[in-house]
Amino acid sequence: MIIKSATFICSNTKVSALPVANMPEYAFIGRSNVGKSSLINMLVNQHGLAKTSQRPGKTQLINHFLINEKWYIVDLPGYGYAKVSKNSRESWEKFIRNYITKRESLQCVFVLIDSRLEPQKIDLEFCCWMGEIQIPFVLAFTKADKQSITKTNQNVAAFKKALGGWFEEIPPYFITSAEKSVGRDEILKFVDQTNLD
Ligand code: GTP
Ligand code: MG
Repeated sequence: MIIKSATFICSNTKVSALPVANMPEYAFIGRSNVGKSSLINMLVNQHGLAKTSQRPGKTQLINHFLINEKWYIVDLPGYGYAKVSKNSRESWEKFIRNYITKRESLQCVFVLIDSRLEPQKIDLEFCCWMGEIQIPFVLAFTKADKQSITKTNQNVAAFKKALGGWFEEIPPYFITSAEKSVGRDEILKFVDQTNLD
């Protein structure tokens, strides 16, 4: 797929205030700082479209970006950021969970996993919840430029093995680097194939 246009549309906390659900959308979720906003910018080839930061907790709202006037990319706040208060963590849980469970036009969720780390409980639990609510999801292992391919492959294999305890079929996965544009063609191809209109 060629990205001809990528435009920021709006930021929200309420599902009721989201754009009309008349186009397929692909949401990006994962731990704070895992690289969601960076991956989105890499995919659309537009630095600074989604706001990024070295500090976790940058993305706070549900952000809609319209791609090629035909589909949406949705940048979500991260989970698992220890510094946020219990109250705001609970309200996060609520509005994101609401979004994921209620959004009719949600075609697929990209669950981002830091490729440098061994399987993290919080990520496995999130995937498990996705399985429970039966929302289609795929995995994107991020920041692959930060270590050797061997190390990345080891962590990917360990994650797949850990998921294997819960899932009969491991979801599709992508190895990515926002820094080096790794995984871009594969992800855009996947979107093309699932974006049936
Ligand atoms: P929150 O919005 O806070 O949940 O974070 P996020 O998941 O959107 O992460 P973000 O894209 O803001 O990136 C976090 C940090 O990781 C930034 O300093 C990015 O430059 C860096 N980063 C993201 N992706 C990559 C990558 O593929 N390679 C490298 N080397 N750094 C990356
Ligand atoms: Mg972000």
